Amino acid sequence: MKIYITRQIPETGIKLLRDAGHDAVISSKSGVLTREELLSELHTNNPDAVLCLLTDKISGEVFDAAPNAKIFATYSVGFGHIDLEAAKQRGVKITNTPGVLTDSVAEYAVGMICALTKRIPEADTFTRAGKYKGWAPTLLLGTDLKGKTLGLLGAGRIGSRVAEIMNKGFGMKIVYFDIKENDFVSNELNGEFKSSPEAVLSVADVVTVHVPLLDSTRGMLNAELLSKMKKSAYLVNTSRGPVIDEDALVNALKSNSIKGAALDVFENEPKLADGLTELTNVIITPHIASATEETRGKMSEMAAENIIDFFAGKEPQNKVL
Ligand code: DGY
Repeated sequence: MKIYITRQIPETGIKLLRDAGHDAVISSKSGVLTREELLSELHTNNPDAVLCLLTDKISGEVFDAAPNAKIFATYSVGFGHIDLEAAKQRGVKITNTPGVLTDSVAEYAVGMICALTKRIPEADTFTRAGKYKGWAPTLLLGTDLKGKTLGLLGAGRIGSRVAEIMNKGFGMKIVYFDIKENDFVSNELNGEFKSSPEAVLSVADVVTVHVPLLDSTRGMLNAELLSKMKKSAYLVNTSRGPVIDEDALVNALKSNSIKGAALDVFENEPKLADGLTELTNVIITPHIASATEETRGKMSEMAAENIIDFFAGKEPQNKVL
């Protein structure tokens, strides 16, 4: 079968596809494909399957440009870039890559929590700039985590792993909101389940966001909700940018109505909200929470295996639809 891959991904998955006898064709363009480029590449290649990325907007017209492609396997756990309704109408199967990136994203979120509360990037910039003139009692004071409260918005695989590390490793108390209670977080970590995001935001010292991008979560952290956070609290987002109203966050950071934020994802990636880069109480990184050698290799294999299983007549393991 002809598998069109929208951008170079780690070789492991491509090798699996080729070893299984498939013709894996990688995009002839480099970088993120524009809408027009994606449509034209699909018309030209007429693939039987597409291995796409989170940077590809997969809409009805994209499915129509590849009428023989009965499966779109995304190289990501998130699938907010795919129009599931359009896929359903056309009987196209959709798969993703859950599980393999849980640890790397959770570790990254923990890294962001530490970097933010201990002011590590700020201290690095300060030292490199030659401003360190000797030890001082109140130089770059940060915040302790032990005994403080970590608020989770979303207690799925990644959120509960962050909670586990921060509770067992750092001694933080856990409060969390999700659509349903998570037994592990409630029972093993003594986490307190709250019935609304507000209830988490009003008590948490650090809020970490782990919800998927859905109609119900888009713009969820708006000005009103952000105003519920403590003035001393920090916000970390490694999930999806559009979950936060980025202009409202810039205002909250500017007016110091919260203490700081660390963002790995943005509302209109790769564009950043006006004013974000001028703030010193924010850490920004380019959507790399899952970017480890190990994880990106496994994601490549998993996306390929979903396609291989599909053509072998088996149900792909990571079926979204
Ligand atoms: C995903 O997979 O959805 C991450 O955001 C990128 O690895």
